Amino acid sequence: MLSNRQKDFSLPKSITYLNGAYMSPQLKSVEKIGVEALKKKRNPTLISQEDFFTDTDKLRHAFAKLIKATQSNRIVIIPSVSYGMANVVKNVDIKRGQHVLVAAEQFPSNYYPWQVLCAEAGAEVKIVSPPNTKTQRAKFWNERILDAINTDTKVVALGNVHWADGTLFDLMAIRKRSKEVGALLVIDGTQSIGALPFDVESIQPDALICAGYKWLLGPYSLGLAYYGPYFDQGKPVEENWINRKNSENFAGLVNYESAYQPGSLRYEVGEHSNFIAVPMLLRAIEQLNLWQPENIQEYCRSITKKAIEDLQEAGFWIEEEAYRASHLFGIRAPLELDIQKVKTELLKKKIYVSYRGDAIRISPNVYNTKDDLKKLVRILQSCL
Ligand SMILES: Cc1ncc(COP(=O)(O)O)c(C=O)c1O
Repeated sequence: MLSNRQKDFSLPKSITYLNGAYMSPQLKSVEKIGVEALKKKRNPTLISQEDFFTDTDKLRHAFAKLIKATQSNRIVIIPSVSYGMANVVKNVDIKRGQHVLVAAEQFPSNYYPWQVLCAEAGAEVKIVSPPNTKTQRAKFWNERILDAINTDTKVVALGNVHWADGTLFDLMAIRKRSKEVGALLVIDGTQSIGALPFDVESIQPDALICAGYKWLLGPYSLGLAYYGPYFDQGKPVEENWINRKNSENFAGLVNYESAYQPGSLRYEVGEHSNFIAVPMLLRAIEQLNLWQPENIQEYCRSITKKAIEDLQEAGFWIEEEAYRASHLFGIRAPLELDIQKVKTELLKKKIYVSYRGDAIRISPNVYNTKDDLKKLVRILQSCL
């Protein structure tokens, strides 16, 4: 099993950081590469024409390995989830009477694009809410999603886990049902890829979009997407020179090309060669490939197990293990809990978590210990 990796990060010793779903701390090795890369531009001759292509290619390969994709040219460098979604939405032709299906309260970058698309087309965004129960909530929520998919469903767009409380969506079953009715499956992997195993070849999403600064441990403003065969002849949101065929030949760039680079590379953001952020994200994903998401998940499970039991005993509600992630989960407090007091006490003790909807969101990673969770439990118990 993976051992604690605190020494690989520069988190201050004085804080207890249980908030990787907000933003990951920085790997020391990623910071080192970033600083070196920043200095490179002091002398532009150190940045060659090949450098526009080499690290991006390595980055696509590294991410393909992480998500078990066989074709690295289906991996696309994007600046944000909203950008990755914009490429998707641009290629969805939805009609009145059809709908896009989303889970309730999912992240806005995977809601607004659908809202605008549907409003313009006179179509509908169908929001599937969880049942109002604490018994098998996630199981019934998944069933509701499956039941809501029908021949009018154009797209199912959701996360692998719910960003607010870690509810796991059964992507295999959702994929099977969406295929039966000819609907696209678009996944926001921001809160899962890197910490939770994912296999593109078995789930076969039409698109998988991820921000890079959370579970991919990368810098802000650089993410990655996977676009499947549905998008092969589609239209990107912008027309950048480097996404066209033969862009490697700088001398011939004004021999304008109508063809794009192969696979999904037409969808990459302009200036994606980003000589600082790309090597940083590459180093981070190489590290994840060494650790492997299944080991990260298992590590998080092992350090949270006792804390979760203690919290459940104290009256907090947490989804059962089979239906939630171990790197991100929500705690719902008993009614008598003074949430304002919790916030104040946690801050006083420098314990960092997030508050999303009615859940206290806990998101540990390999730099955390059982002790970190013990500290959290102690404070929560003392606020009852
Ligand atoms: C599920 C999810 N998707 C996307 C994002 C970020 O979106 P964007 O890259 O468009 O800012 C976040 C940030 O918290 C998130 O939690």
